[in-house]
Amino acid sequence: MAHVQTDVLYTREYHEDAINLGKPEAFPYYPATAFGATAFEEIKTAYKQGYTYIRTNNPDRHVLEGLMTKLEAPGMDDADSAVLSSGMAAITATCAALLQKGDHILSNRCLYGETIELFDLFFGKLGVETTYVDFSDLGAVKAALKPNTKMIYTEICANPTIDLVDLPALVTIAKDAGALLVVDNTFCSPLSIRPLEWGADIVINSLTKFLSGHSDILLGAVTANRELIHKIYDFSLFMGSPADPFPAFQMIRALESAPMRIERQMYNAAKLAAYFETDPRIVKVNHPSVESFRQRDIAKKLWKDDEKITGMMSVEFCTENDAKIDAFMKRLKFVHYAPTLGGMRTTMSHPVTSSHNTTPDDVRRAMGITPALMRISVGIENIDDLIEDFRQAFAELE
Ligand SMILES: Cc1ncc(COP(=O)(O)O)c(C=O)c1O
Repeated sequence: MAHVQTDVLYTREYHEDAINLGKPEAFPYYPATAFGATAFEEIKTAYKQGYTYIRTNNPDRHVLEGLMTKLEAPGMDDADSAVLSSGMAAITATCAALLQKGDHILSNRCLYGETIELFDLFFGKLGVETTYVDFSDLGAVKAALKPNTKMIYTEICANPTIDLVDLPALVTIAKDAGALLVVDNTFCSPLSIRPLEWGADIVINSLTKFLSGHSDILLGAVTANRELIHKIYDFSLFMGSPADPFPAFQMIRALESAPMRIERQMYNAAKLAAYFETDPRIVKVNHPSVESFRQRDIAKKLWKDDEKITGMMSVEFCTENDAKIDAFMKRLKFVHYAPTLGGMRTTMSHPVTSSHNTTPDDVRRAMGITPALMRISVGIENIDDLIEDFRQAFAELE
């Protein structure tokens, strides 16, 4: 008989052979940092196909990686995914694994701010140079290519101006240049578009946003062919950034409702954009579904259904007056400020005071970012309530 100190460590009686143990209604959370073995043969098999140490692999992350591959690359046999601790970890591991000193990144000029900082401050220091170009000008993209351009990097839909990219044209440019085309799909998600199917080489998603939807998970994913994912995964192991099982477990649950949620968010965004087009207090609507959108031709080329493009948009108010915009924000009943996006509740951000507060005013204005611009991440509320909330608060802008 062992003592209590030992018993609490080793007593694990449960119905290990229960016929239905492998069929729980919800996929279990496995927080274990390691999985034991009793013989060498078992250890060797576990390393090849199984679970050993939490950072190397764990069941929740493994299931989530399979789900991400299914979402981003449903018909591609050699596709795989790596799920990392955040969207930024996914971007960092992808670039660090595939680039080396002397390589050149050709990047869209409109990008998530921290991605730009990563390229400039971190990769610049390591001898990887980045050139930023407006990807809506394909001539400029071609002109900026260099013999050492190894990667062409873009977001599918840029923050906060909702600039789209002509994916098929970029695929051709990247293939001709022998460069990898990397697309950050965070603003649209695979429920809207699957860049790999258009010929991109690598797709990145911050799962922190639309795909998790509950504003309570920090994770990122990379999906590509198996060979590339192997390299990215190997680097992520050293970086220490493969996902922890708990957010992966939460994410498996969140993905069950992601199609319903995101479809509703995209639908609500299209309806809201249509309303904004009719309101005199809004001078510009940046959403691909509206006829006035400057890249409407690209929207039609990439999407068949205007109500299934993105839950993101931005609008330019009729005034840049701080006090009026402040009064408008205070008057909203449901919609509110939050420095994130993709959640089920509609949130707004003011790029001039948040994501682009360090960008000089003239540069911002050239990008279409004025103090009157507000970014909106549309939620799943009843669309009539949402429209009414904006309508009554717009009175403050007059
Ligand atoms: C387009 C885009 N990519 C990547 C990221 C980074 O994701 P995370 O916050 O999960 O690291 C963000 C964050 O806002 C983003 O907007």
